Amino acid sequence: MTQDNIIPHHQTVSPLERIHLKGHRPAVVWFTGLSGSGKSTIANLVEARLCRDFHAHTFLLDGDNIRTGLNKDLGFTPRDRAENIRRLGEVCRLFYDAGLIVLTAFISPYAADRNRIRERIPEGDFIEVFVQCPLDVCESRDPKGLYEKARNGQIQNFTGIGSDYEIPVNPELTLYSGLLSADECAEEVIKYLTVHQLRARKDTKEIDG
Ligand code: ADX
Repeated sequence: MTQDNIIPHHQTVSPLERIHLKGHRPAVVWFTGLSGSGKSTIANLVEARLCRDFHAHTFLLDGDNIRTGLNKDLGFTPRDRAENIRRLGEVCRLFYDAGLIVLTAFISPYAADRNRIRERIPEGDFIEVFVQCPLDVCESRDPKGLYEKARNGQIQNFTGIGSDYEIPVNPELTLYSGLLSADECAEEVIKYLTVHQLRARKDTKEIDG
């Protein structure tokens, strides 16, 4: 294996030092849901609130943006989606280690792929947010015109039509974005983060793993 002679180097600046510097625990806030469910819109609102109201250090990773750069070689077969999410998990772990609250907006339709990322992030700091919106509502919104193309056979493997979406079994949060406004959904995430990341856990424990 190419890993045989790789010996990780110990880094002097500890995660706890970064927590004190930033004033909050790092986290990965993983939004998952169908295309058009509102993931990107809500994640953007949450990030803006975290930066402006809480002076938190954040970074937002979005599916469509990452797919024009780091993952531009990947398509939408189950295998490519798994690789998409695997790479994103590694990127999330790096930003997490840098002390940031990372927000992500990827369909991430497969539970196994999402769970692999959960395993890479210390317990309590991976927050799976299921953006629940019925397919017919997403399809009626069709903000990018992609559902229409998928129905016409112009896009293969489109999530919800030619490809499955596996509903999260035990997400930390479920947002009913077909019923609530994007602002209301963002507020629920902020409430969760206020209790779990921004206040209570600031000084609690060292990060390992
Ligand atoms: S994921 O399934 O691998 O997590 P990701 O979130 O990165 O998907 O990218 C989804 C975005 O790619 C959608 O918002 C949509 O704009 C675009 N897209 C293009 N083709 C497809 C497809 N077949 N299925 C889903 N999304 C697609």
